[in-house]
Amino acid sequence: MNVPLSLLLFAQLIGTAATTTTGSEYVSLEDQLLGEGSLTGRRTGRLYCRVGIGFHLQIHPDGRVNGTHEPNSLSVLELFAVSQGVVGIRGVFSNRFLAMNRRGRLHAIEKFTEDCKFRERFQENSYNTYASVTHKNHRTGREWFVALNKRGKAKMGSSPRVKSQHVSTHFLPRLYLHEKTEQGFTITDRHKERTKQAPPKPPAPKRAINTGHKRPQTVKYWPKFRFG
Ligand SMILES: *[C@@H]1O[C@H](CO)[C@@H](O)[C@H](O)[C@H]1NC(C)=O
Repeated sequence: MNVPLSLLLFAQLIGTAATTTTGSEYVSLEDQLLGEGSLTGRRTGRLYCRVGIGFHLQIHPDGRVNGTHEPNSLSVLELFAVSQGVVGIRGVFSNRFLAMNRRGRLHAIEKFTEDCKFRERFQENSYNTYASVTHKNHRTGREWFVALNKRGKAKMGSSPRVKSQHVSTHFLPRLYLHEKTEQGFTITDRHKERTKQAPPKPPAPKRAINTGHKRPQTVKYWPKFRFG
């Protein structure tokens, strides 16, 4: 065996050892995704709609959008301010932006466009609504809202039944905040969140974001919180 080859093997051995050590403390994909916010300074969390049994908005890698009762990797979202009162919503796992097309259909796309801008407003009940900035009923001026139906399917924003007074359009931001200086109150999540199915394509391991320790499942509720 020549010297360079043995050196290479040695390096591989060290590499394997290092992987095994870090792998001994399991960091779930969800924790990794939620932890991304602490790297970027942006906010990650979930948007919980209280329609039906309650659903978290989720963005699939193929661009489909619907709700999931149980929180999972696909429901980890990043909300970021675009301008005053206007936000973008990105599925952290799918790396796609929530969008509403000219027909009022919700989907998620890879490139951020005008279709991805949503006006965020507070409701009396501390839920927020998200209305397309770009598309609305131009004749009546009625806005088109992000909404889920009681079975957790995405509704057409253009549907006359999708109104800001209806629970289908009410979303509670459940944020996972990384800065201790923020104000707000915390509630510990009852059910432990875990990823049940193997994710189709786990992202490359991030920098040491969680240092191997599983964070306590603490959810921050932000009444009247706005991103934009
Ligand atoms: C959401 O979409 C996924 C993928 O199409 C599907 O498997 C799931 O059943 C849907 N959930 C609901 C509540 O419709």
